[in-house]
Amino acid sequence: QYPLPIAPIHTPTLTWTDAASNAAIDFYEVEVKAFQKQIYPDLPATEMVGYNGLAPGPMFVMQQGREAVVRYTNNGPTNVSVHVHGQYDRAPFDGWAGDFALPGQYKDYYYPNAQNARTIWYHDHTEFHTGENAYKGQEGFYLLRDSHEQSLGLPSGDHDVTLMFGSKTYNQDGSLNYDTNNGIGLWGDVISVNAQPWPYFEVEPRKYRLRLLNGAISRTFSLSFVPDGPSGFGKDPIEFDVIGSDSGLLSHPVRTDGLAFSMGERYEIVIDFAGYEGQNITVHNVRGMGENIDYAATDFCMRFVVGYTVVDDSNNGDVPQELRYIPPPPDQSPSKEFAFTRTDDGEWVINGVGWSDIENRILTRPERGDDEIWTLTNGGGNGTHPVHIHLVDFQVLSRTGGRNEVLPYESAGEKDVVWLAGGETVQVVARYAPWPGVYMFHCHNLVHEDNDMLVAFNVSQLAE
Ligand code: C2O
Ligand code: CU
Repeated sequence: QYPLPIAPIHTPTLTWTDAASNAAIDFYEVEVKAFQKQIYPDLPATEMVGYNGLAPGPMFVMQQGREAVVRYTNNGPTNVSVHVHGQYDRAPFDGWAGDFALPGQYKDYYYPNAQNARTIWYHDHTEFHTGENAYKGQEGFYLLRDSHEQSLGLPSGDHDVTLMFGSKTYNQDGSLNYDTNNGIGLWGDVISVNAQPWPYFEVEPRKYRLRLLNGAISRTFSLSFVPDGPSGFGKDPIEFDVIGSDSGLLSHPVRTDGLAFSMGERYEIVIDFAGYEGQNITVHNVRGMGENIDYAATDFCMRFVVGYTVVDDSNNGDVPQELRYIPPPPDQSPSKEFAFTRTDDGEWVINGVGWSDIENRILTRPERGDDEIWTLTNGGGNGTHPVHIHLVDFQVLSRTGGRNEVLPYESAGEKDVVWLAGGETVQVVARYAPWPGVYMFHCHNLVHEDNDMLVAFNVSQLAE
């Protein structure tokens, strides 16, 4: 077993002051390039392609109100387009799937960093190749902070840890195997966290804030934290507080001993390792969730090794019972319906339309500032579709069929991905703002996305 790798925090190349607004803008540079990573000691190193040659990519830590420009230079072998998943960016900087940089080209992306604190991630979004590019390494964290969140006394510094879950398959020669099962999914038999299979992480016996991201291509997880204890496996899982989801803090902490999440979703938890001195805590994946195909070793993900002493007791108090004000959902009636289905010739489509259908792929045109309820239906048969809507934060109003409930940690916050399992219909409400423009929405099973389950909406500008 290897230690958990933690992505280094990225630093700007330079900072300038905008003449018109007098605001400071940070300029960052990132190079997409091939690199090798030693995954297995007895196999050759694995070829990957990632941001600055790292997997996960360098971590952005942004402060609300401080704008940034990031130059991505593509020195990799394939086309790339970069999407910051979870931030509202102007359409030209949102990683439109057809707006890719060829090898040798670069593009500058402008990021407003104007929203509340949240755990965001950035990843490739190139049409028909998102899955393979993300799988081979183009994924990283992008944390947005704000002063309200920083005033809550949540665990911070070394006690605020990013964990990107992945699921991959390796060949005998150490290379990554990207077999999509004829476009249905890539579940993988090797679970990794921060790109390292089954790592361990040494912790103090105190509270930690863990930012969990499902960065897998097609695998959903249902996680629990189980102490091994002296008598071995089989203890009850530890209870913890869910404090945040895709779009930042929940309104209040939600206590649970298990957490289910699908691709692209993020949850933040505060877990207390006090009382587990000298023990191992194994992060288990409860098998059989979301109709995934499971393999023998996919029921465990990583291990926390709890030490005997608290070195740093700062921000180790109770989680506040009020975390953030979230306005109640607007009073609207459902206005639009989108069905996620598979055609007879194996193409994944939304209302019968896929990305390849250039004439028809803009499915709807909300007016800028409108609140709309969208009804998302899983057309059945073929498993899970985590539905991601760009630009907006939404609230999950209802889920019928399948699990038949909105999970408590879904309803207590705002999200940008909702897990639409087989047989389920989910309603989400969002305000289509702040920017006009054409944005994507799609399935975040990246194999489905690349097989056409990717469409767009056009937020139309109101007449002046
Ligand atoms: Cu995480 Cu459109 O993507
Ligand atoms: Cu799907």
